[in-house]
Amino acid sequence: MDESDADFSTVKQHAADNDTLVQLKTDEYLLPGFIDLHVHAPQWPNAGVALDQPLNEWLDTYTFPLEAKYQDTAFAKRVYDDLVAELIGNGTTTALYFGTTHNPANSELAMACITHHQRGFIGKVAMDNPDQTPEYYRDASAQSAVADTESFIQQLTELNQTADIKQTPVITPRFVPSCTPESLKGLGELAKKYDLPVQSHCSESDWENGYALEHYHMRDAEVLDQYGLLTDKSVMAHGTLLNQSDLDTFKDRGVAIAHCPISNVYFGNAVLPVSKLLHQDVKVGLGTDLSGGYSPSLYQNIRQAVISSRMLHDGVNAELSPEERGTDNQPISAKNGFYLATVGGAKSLHLKTGQIKAGYLADLQVVKSPLRAFEDENMETVFEKIMYHASKSDIKRVYVQGTQAK
Ligand code: GUN
Ligand code: FE
Repeated sequence: MDESDADFSTVKQHAADNDTLVQLKTDEYLLPGFIDLHVHAPQWPNAGVALDQPLNEWLDTYTFPLEAKYQDTAFAKRVYDDLVAELIGNGTTTALYFGTTHNPANSELAMACITHHQRGFIGKVAMDNPDQTPEYYRDASAQSAVADTESFIQQLTELNQTADIKQTPVITPRFVPSCTPESLKGLGELAKKYDLPVQSHCSESDWENGYALEHYHMRDAEVLDQYGLLTDKSVMAHGTLLNQSDLDTFKDRGVAIAHCPISNVYFGNAVLPVSKLLHQDVKVGLGTDLSGGYSPSLYQNIRQAVISSRMLHDGVNAELSPEERGTDNQPISAKNGFYLATVGGAKSLHLKTGQIKAGYLADLQVVKSPLRAFEDENMETVFEKIMYHASKSDIKRVYVQGTQAK
């Protein structure tokens, strides 16, 4: 038995315990793998670039030109191989991806996930609105946006036949402004026909909500709901500007929010009131939003989720009354952030993962203590130090469904 086999038997044994953190050796700990609920795979080459632009200008000037390059399938393969390895390296065992409009490139993303043993949920991006997308990067028509989404579903079925880790297709209208009513309608019908997950952006910016109000006389959540795109398999990114009526709809339909705290600092200029949402039983998980968020690490996003939530008290969301600020909108802890990156994401995708527990998938990360201990430390202290200090180099091994991926 080589060393990795020995490790795997330990992993299996501990996977039977109901714990968040299991000590393996003096300074090595086993944690559940992370679930990244919102990644734009094609934007990886721009991570950290142009974060000072407003959302719509950033899309037009930096993002659409980059995404258009995935017409070149060889370029797609190079980027996607690198990105999936990077996410696995950071402890992310499941990821919900936006691809691009190009299906050959989207298949490369699925193949990269299969090669690197990551559980991918992958969407062919639909964006057919000629008023809000550039001619060089858009679906030719509503019909082709829907037909290409359907053919991507079939492509994944074929790829999955020989894959150990299955990849799931996701219905992906980019967001309300990028799509025509016809494509939104067709995509809603596809989601129902195949009973598939749906992902989009919802209430991320005033500009996006303003577009929905002007063109549909409705909020963007209401537009998505009208077309059958809000279901208990839907994951909506950001949601920072959802009002109480939208949240009631989310709760009623079982829609999850992908909280992207780093991205929200730059593009949303807002803080998601996580405690309030969890108290209202709205599902919430954590997303990097690469490259609206600059970091591929969910540890970094856990930290930002905690830091941002603490700022609610300083009036960042100025419309909240002082009473609201002190109760439901109380700051979240590192443990809450960890919950979002594990259990929250798993619930959003209906997966039995995110916990080290009998009957759950063995999606795991082995993390070395990032800091030296100067005296005996209890597990609480160890956990907090890992949450605040772990980086990629501290993540020694990663397992997805029991297969070693790092
Ligand atoms: N809204 C529409 N497209 C995007 C995108 O690529 N990133 C972010 N953050 N918001 C969007
Ligand atoms: Fe996004």
